[in-house]
Amino acid sequence: MKNIVIFGAPGSGKGTQSDKIVEKYGFKHISTGDVLRGEIKNGTELGKTAKGYIDNGQLIPDSLMIDILASVYDSFGAVEGVIFDGFPRTIPQAEALKQMLAERGTEVSVMLNLDVPEAELMDRLIKRGQISGRADDNEETIKKRLVVYQEQTSPLIEWYQNEGKHTHIQGSGELEKIFADICEAIDKV
Ligand code: AP5
Ligand code: MG
Repeated sequence: MKNIVIFGAPGSGKGTQSDKIVEKYGFKHISTGDVLRGEIKNGTELGKTAKGYIDNGQLIPDSLMIDILASVYDSFGAVEGVIFDGFPRTIPQAEALKQMLAERGTEVSVMLNLDVPEAELMDRLIKRGQISGRADDNEETIKKRLVVYQEQTSPLIEWYQNEGKHTHIQGSGELEKIFADICEAIDKV
């Protein structure tokens, strides 16, 4: 059982590379952003709460996020592997993930840090915004998301280095080259 954290700034390619991992390894994929967008689409109470944060480029409160994550994880049952995409995003979330997995007799296998220069992130997301229909893919909100990443999420790099789980992945360039580096890291654990 492998638990893969796919980590990186907004637009770094977490979703794109997760799809490729799912295709090759058959792992289950949990994207907390996709879960929240699904709730918004279905007009649930959770979706109504989440919308205000997402449209403003802010993070949903940790306690809410942690409960959602545990329930999705448990819904998977016995699987070969799980990819965590967009979670954890804060140190309390990383600590909660560690505890949740320990309670289930497992742990994070590796954290893959997709590293992409900020100018390229902006460029990718503005381009995607022209077709995605994502409410947070506009210049003003993208800038806020990048600030939130720097302030609240990037400290996790050091946190996972201290756990001995961090692997740096060059996240710009050819999709297939990035994927090959990811596969190498997954095959090692
Ligand atoms: P989330 O949905 O996770 O968004 P994000 O982290 O901002 O990242 P994106 O999904 O925009 O980018 P990505 O890294 O998946 O890149 P992608 O593969 O799409 O979260 C959205 C919001 O939900 C948050 O802001 C927050 O409000 C809330 N939320 C979610 N999780 C939360 C949590 N744990 N706690 C609290 N709040 C939470 O690629 C981007 C683009 O680049 C695509 O167009 C793609 O085609 C292109 N691309 C990919 N790879 C390459 C490449 N190698 N070369 C050129 N282009 C590429
Ligand atoms: Mg994504």
